[in-house]
Amino acid sequence: MSADKKTKQEQPVSILIVDDDDITVKRLEHLLLKIGFGVQTASDGMGALSLVRENTFDIILTDLMIDEVGGLDILELAKSRSPETEVIIITGYASVDSAIEATKKGAFHYLQKPIRPDEVRHIVGQAVKNLKLSKRVRELEDEIETEHAFAGIIGKSPKIQEIKTLIRHIEDSDSNVLITGESGTGKELVARTIHETSRKRQGTFLAFNCAAFHEDLVAHELFGHEKDAFTGASSVRAGLIESADKGTVFFDEIGDMPLAMQAKLLRVVQERELLRVGGTEPIPVDIRIISATNKDLKELCSTGKFRQDLYFRLNVIHIHLPYLCERKEDIPILSAFFLKRHGRRMEKQITGFSAETMKLLTEYGYPGNIRELENIVEHAVSMARGKTIRVEDLPGDLSEYDAFTFHQPTSQIKTLEEIETEYIAWVLGKVGHHKSEAARLLGINRASLYRKLKRAMLEDG
Ligand SMILES: Nc1ncnc2c1ncn2[C@@H]1O[C@H](COP(=O)(O)OP(=O)(O)OP(=O)(O)O)[C@@H](O)[C@H]1O
Ligand SMILES: [Mg+2]
Repeated sequence: MSADKKTKQEQPVSILIVDDDDITVKRLEHLLLKIGFGVQTASDGMGALSLVRENTFDIILTDLMIDEVGGLDILELAKSRSPETEVIIITGYASVDSAIEATKKGAFHYLQKPIRPDEVRHIVGQAVKNLKLSKRVRELEDEIETEHAFAGIIGKSPKIQEIKTLIRHIEDSDSNVLITGESGTGKELVARTIHETSRKRQGTFLAFNCAAFHEDLVAHELFGHEKDAFTGASSVRAGLIESADKGTVFFDEIGDMPLAMQAKLLRVVQERELLRVGGTEPIPVDIRIISATNKDLKELCSTGKFRQDLYFRLNVIHIHLPYLCERKEDIPILSAFFLKRHGRRMEKQITGFSAETMKLLTEYGYPGNIRELENIVEHAVSMARGKTIRVEDLPGDLSEYDAFTFHQPTSQIKTLEEIETEYIAWVLGKVGHHKSEAARLLGINRASLYRKLKRAMLEDG
């Protein structure tokens, strides 16, 4: 929980008094204002209901029988809007039984008329104590939840720390987030963590893979359709976006979203409303959009495959996940984390990795990033027979991995330049086409690598 939340100025306790008897209202109002509470009043049921709908009161003191609206209606509405609101029923002698009944339905207590100031002070004081307690409990629950959500992102490298700090900073924001990074770098994990630590965490987290669907299907799935929108549409259907109202929608592989869909999505982002397929009536939606891609969206914009206006709207906050080989210091802790996860799942008592194994794990290039590391550890756990994971337990391509054991068939004579080109291509493949890492392994600077790539036409730039 961020520190500024705790230092926020404390608001006075807000109280609503509802009674059709003006004298009771006046007396209570006078008494409670004097103590320093914020007080609003209502003398009829409808007025009270609309106040409850528009505000969140800490405490409501309400007459049981007002008019066609009763104290129980107010109790029910207040509790459904804010379960922490304490409701105190005011009652005449004759209806004490009903007041007791009301406490069974969630009222905090009841006050009997005629109003006695001491009793009011005492009962309202108890309600305030209760309120503070439940607020504190909720804060603690929030803190635990937030910490728990963060526990999923493992890593102590500066880059990962930076990302965790950024996620903390945006806890209170609804801004759209764009996550970029290669396959297996943790984009979905970060998206889920952002949702789980955000104000929208009570809402749904809906993940949608834009690459997995055919264009028409995407429209129907996402935006729903009206009755008779097409042959076979026998009834209205709400789309996924509507069903995620007040939550987060995660558009995975956003770079693959068809252009027609991008236009529809822009409307959602800009106007906060959508049109169902075949519909003309806009439907309001309140969603936070997190998108992810391993493509260069700017590049897609410049070639007309992605709408620039949508790109700007989605990219309010940008998080870039580095390759695993750019944060090698995280490999031991991630390996230990996956060892624990899979060891427990396979009910194996494995305590760690041999030094040689850890050396290999740290040196490997991980073209598949963290997902590949997890697969490797999972494989090793299933192979392991002893208490530690040894080199033999690792998948073959990894235990044989060595940037210097480069084997090529020798039946054909090649020029040095050709061999160099093939070797560069092979190293690039090993490190997931990460040029800085390839250049480092090859012992040349990035500019030389680019020059060589250009010469070999492995890359146009
Ligand atoms: N920092 C991390 N700590 C712990 N586990 C991680 C971390 N980053 C990624 N993982 C795990 O690695 C796997 C791959 O992560 P994820 O699915 O989020 O990657 P991705 O970037 O969405 O990949 P793709 O582009 O292929 O969809 C998941 O099992 C995830 O839980
Ligand atoms: Mg993913």
